[in-house]
Amino acid sequence: MKSKAVESADILPLSQEIIDRFNHAMHAARAVGEPEPTAMVLATSDGEGLVTTRTVLLKALDPDGFVFFTNTTSRKGQQLQVCPRGAATFLWKTIENQVQLEGPVSRVSDAEADAYFSTRDRGSQIGAWASLQSQKLDSRETLECRAVEFEHKFEGREVLRPAHWSGFRLQPESVEFWQGRKFRLHDRLKYSQANGQWVTQLLYP
Ligand SMILES: Cc1cc2nc3c(=O)[nH]c(=O)nc-3n(C[C@H](O)[C@H](O)[C@H](O)COP(=O)(O)O)c2cc1C
Repeated sequence: MKSKAVESADILPLSQEIIDRFNHAMHAARAVGEPEPTAMVLATSDGEGLVTTRTVLLKALDPDGFVFFTNTTSRKGQQLQVCPRGAATFLWKTIENQVQLEGPVSRVSDAEADAYFSTRDRGSQIGAWASLQSQKLDSRETLECRAVEFEHKFEGREVLRPAHWSGFRLQPESVEFWQGRKFRLHDRLKYSQANGQWVTQLLYP
């Protein structure tokens, strides 16, 4: 099976209503002390039927989508190269809330990746160099030695963003908000796109 070519230019920007609804839920989750409220489980595929998931952190949200950062040569990075689509789920257990996204995923610009990388603490910047994310590692010591190596390499100067580390933006074609309710009669509200506009649909729980 070939990966589906998606023209992200055909996808509408997120509406302010969707962004507000998402931010409202995120703020509510933060307010009750939800651990890692920006964590989302991201699913990617190799385009041949293998689907994989992992947690990443949301670092930006704008009308063009949800941004996370990672090593572009990681397993997810390689999958996104052959099959540039993803799905992501935020779970805010404390407030019984879930948000699900589906859509194409594209690389952020180098300028956007540089801007975010420069805000990371130095240790994490070094970590981005030291980690050959998703590759086999023979021992913990090897990883720690690599971190020391890069600390020396960048001693006394700014740590530049590695070319293999960047961001991806998931541009949703659909966004579903789930709110837990009594007796499992939960609320599901799905935003999708039809005839050039965002439309909403309730779904059975
Ligand atoms: C709470 C949490 C947040 C994480 N955030 C990120 C992230 O923002 N970027 C990232 O590359 N990995 C992050 N990870 C690690 C990933 O879950 C995963 O192990 C790694 O990206 C390799 O995934 P892959 O082999 O599927 O590419 C996070 C893990 C946890 C538990």
